[in-house]
Amino acid sequence: MSAVQKHTGSAAAGPYGSPYHVPVLCQAVVEGLITHPAGCYVDATIGGGGHAAALLDALAPEGRVIGIDRDPEALTVVRRRLAEAIAAGRLQLVQGNFADLEGLLDELGVPSIDGLLLDLGVSSHQLDDAMRGFSFRAEGPLDMRMDPSSPGPTAAQLLERWSAYELADVLHRYGEEPRARKLARAIYQARPIRTTAELAEVVRREVPAREVTKTLARVFQALRIAVNDELRVLERVLEAATRRVRPGGRLAVLSYHSLEDRRVKRFLRYGNLEGKPVRDFYGRLVSPWRPLTRRAIRPSADEVVVNPRARSARLRIAERVAEPAFENP
Ligand SMILES: C[S@@+](CC[C@H](N)C(=O)[O-])C[C@H]1O[C@@H](n2cnc3c(N)ncnc32)[C@H](O)[C@@H]1O
Repeated sequence: MSAVQKHTGSAAAGPYGSPYHVPVLCQAVVEGLITHPAGCYVDATIGGGGHAAALLDALAPEGRVIGIDRDPEALTVVRRRLAEAIAAGRLQLVQGNFADLEGLLDELGVPSIDGLLLDLGVSSHQLDDAMRGFSFRAEGPLDMRMDPSSPGPTAAQLLERWSAYELADVLHRYGEEPRARKLARAIYQARPIRTTAELAEVVRREVPAREVTKTLARVFQALRIAVNDELRVLERVLEAATRRVRPGGRLAVLSYHSLEDRRVKRFLRYGNLEGKPVRDFYGRLVSPWRPLTRRAIRPSADEVVVNPRARSARLRIAERVAEPAFENP
């Protein structure tokens, strides 16, 4: 019997899936991350606790997990789901932004860790809850804050604040939207826009029917990234990982779109955010990270059938090296 209480929301979702969220590439994450079964691991995006539950099961009884999430609601769910592990002192939960990883670890008195997991983006529950405003498929307030207790701004407030030019820039940079200027003009003129349905309606009027869904996905992605400053916080946690993951420890990152994946790939390959190769005296690439996944791991077709939200996932794993002097692939 597992030490951790498992949720069996649906048999097809695997032992760690729950009605809240089905963890993606769960086995690959656990196998790729754990090098020291009695070690200390951080799940910096604990969400519904699926990956954390699998990690706790795979670790030795002395092994422990620190779970972080920006969303207080996720922590309430995990507190219930993984109550046994919390009571046993194997799981500690912290509400916060993983960009502040070092400050959060300092508060817990943890100088270094054996592994860090980042499962980026939003959970299925956040997406399905119309009141959070993440989805163009359900009507709700245009909010999109991962931490609804934060002062904001919400997506609706940003739309009020930005010029058409600034909005076009956001749609172009964070959504890679080819019609950024046209859409920005239309959205700007239609303001105030307070709900997901109002925004979706403006976009629908501007693009051919066959392109509506993809365009909406890009527009909503762009706004969500802006509201939560997602690319900057990713960069901050990657740099923190270099300082806090012990040599021999691992970093596993699941990303769901190319803007994230490109940054992760570059960082794990070169050890810096600029993607600048650093070479030693002999011209060999040096980096504090040794990528263990030459190509990103993708979910199998079977996993995508069971969990369609896994379809865009890419998992990259790297090992922290003590002396950054080796041939990097
Ligand atoms: C894809 S879900 C994680 C699901 C989780 N792996 C599981 O098995 O249930 C992503 C979670 O990360 C959280 N999150 C996103 N950005 C964050 C950040 N900067 N700091 C802390 N949590 C964040 C979201 O609130 C969400 O709960």
